[in-house]
Amino acid sequence: MKIFHDPKHIAVLTALLFLCSVSPVLAKPKDKDRWNNKYETEVYLFGEKPIPFLVDNVHLLPKGKVLDIAMGEGRNGVYLATQGFDVLGLDISEKGLEKAHRLAKKNNVTIETKVVDLENFTLEPNTYDVILCSYYMQKNLFRQFQSALKPGGMIVVETYNIDYLKYVRFSRKWALDTNELLDIFKGLRVIRYQDYDDGKEAYSSIIAQKQ
Ligand SMILES: C[S@@+](CC[C@H](N)C(=O)[O-])C[C@H]1O[C@@H](n2cnc3c(N)ncnc32)[C@H](O)[C@@H]1O
Repeated sequence: MKIFHDPKHIAVLTALLFLCSVSPVLAKPKDKDRWNNKYETEVYLFGEKPIPFLVDNVHLLPKGKVLDIAMGEGRNGVYLATQGFDVLGLDISEKGLEKAHRLAKKNNVTIETKVVDLENFTLEPNTYDVILCSYYMQKNLFRQFQSALKPGGMIVVETYNIDYLKYVRFSRKWALDTNELLDIFKGLRVIRYQDYDDGKEAYSSIIAQKQ
């Protein structure tokens, strides 16, 4: 092919290949930077209070070791620490986790945290009494929850579902299908399940137990 013999064409081709390789990065800044930038404010973007579904059902959860997946600024993990649970929070954003530690201090409790990229992370089997995940969607990780729980352990998961798309512009891929949590966690015993819709927000929540 003649084009590859012409140095000018080779230069153009090289430039195009370079642009193709960097453009996804330019179009979508890495999650870590994106979330660190968002959390770079004194304000707690998701509030300091835990999600109501957790507060309403905390009495059902077995006391012990909690893994808070994508903990963010710590509203849920810190609440569980105040209730006597031993909490480890994971998140890709160190800025979020710094705020979680500040919230813990404000509430006179301590938590452990670890900065990790959950897209490249394997949960330890038979380790946790509770796995909590709110408003973080990674279905292949959800599928590891059952093996990461100790027998009798419980998951608490809540995130937006497809009805939410009626109210805001939101990516379809981050919204759960109808009954999808029931399907993903069908190997567990369902203790509580709800679809919430108040005309502004819509989400699904589940608590389920490993037998
Ligand atoms: C919508 S926030 C929810 C935070 C918290 N669970 C809550 O409900 O307040 C989503 C969180 O996921 C974290 N996150 C996004 N991608 C991640 C990844 N690949 N690994 C770990 N955490 C990630 C973000 O840093 C952010 O804190």
